[in-house]
Amino acid sequence: MDRHDKMGGIVEVREHEFDGIREFDNKLPNWWLWSFYGACIFAFFYWLYYHGFAFGDSSQRTFQVEWDAQQASAVETMFTDDELRGASKDASVVAAGKEVFTANCVACHAANGGGTIGGAPLPGPNLTDSAWIHGGAPMGIFSTIYKGVPEKGMVTWGPTLGKDRIRSVTAYVLTLRNSNVPGGKAPEGAVYDGQ
Ligand code: HEC
Repeated sequence: MDRHDKMGGIVEVREHEFDGIREFDNKLPNWWLWSFYGACIFAFFYWLYYHGFAFGDSSQRTFQVEWDAQQASAVETMFTDDELRGASKDASVVAAGKEVFTANCVACHAANGGGTIGGAPLPGPNLTDSAWIHGGAPMGIFSTIYKGVPEKGMVTWGPTLGKDRIRSVTAYVLTLRNSNVPGGKAPEGAVYDGQ
């Protein structure tokens, strides 16, 4: 059976048949074809811009940047230096912090915080001297523990321990600070001589 298109031309019926279903050989409308070609061209440049050369920040990357900044500023304001100094003088907080330390930190920082075991160095630095790679102020220590230094092997403890246990373990680390245990690792970083 022939079918006529709008211009009066004959529309062919294609050869094949599936379950009694046959197809007209219609030409795709131009508006459809051009929007399809347009979409392909757009996609190619879009891909080059956001992924190929990554000139533009993809929405995923934009989100990550905002998220990281938000997380970072949130950590910095969780407590204050004074609050943590106060916690380090509270025996029950320090005892809780010591438990967190024993359970999570001794493998790399040693039971006494000196960073060595039987004279051999462990991965972590000495926490009992006055030198700090990432700052020895109470909130400096807190945020190093919270955020970690993943590229150097210090775990990001925030998600695992949460801010309250990190507060306790920071209070405990503050009691180790400047205690200079014998046989500890050589100092690393800058001396912090504040409170
Ligand atoms: C897998 C090993 C590892 C574990 C476990 C670990 N640390 Fe660390 N830690 C490190 C390393 C390595 C560094 C040094 C990072 C650097 O060089 O920047 C470090 C650095 C630190 C610092 C900063 C020291 C400075 O000089 O600024 C503090 C504070 C700290 N760790 C506390 C802790 C606490 C508290 C825990 C347990 C909750 C812990 N660490 C568990 C490996 C570890």
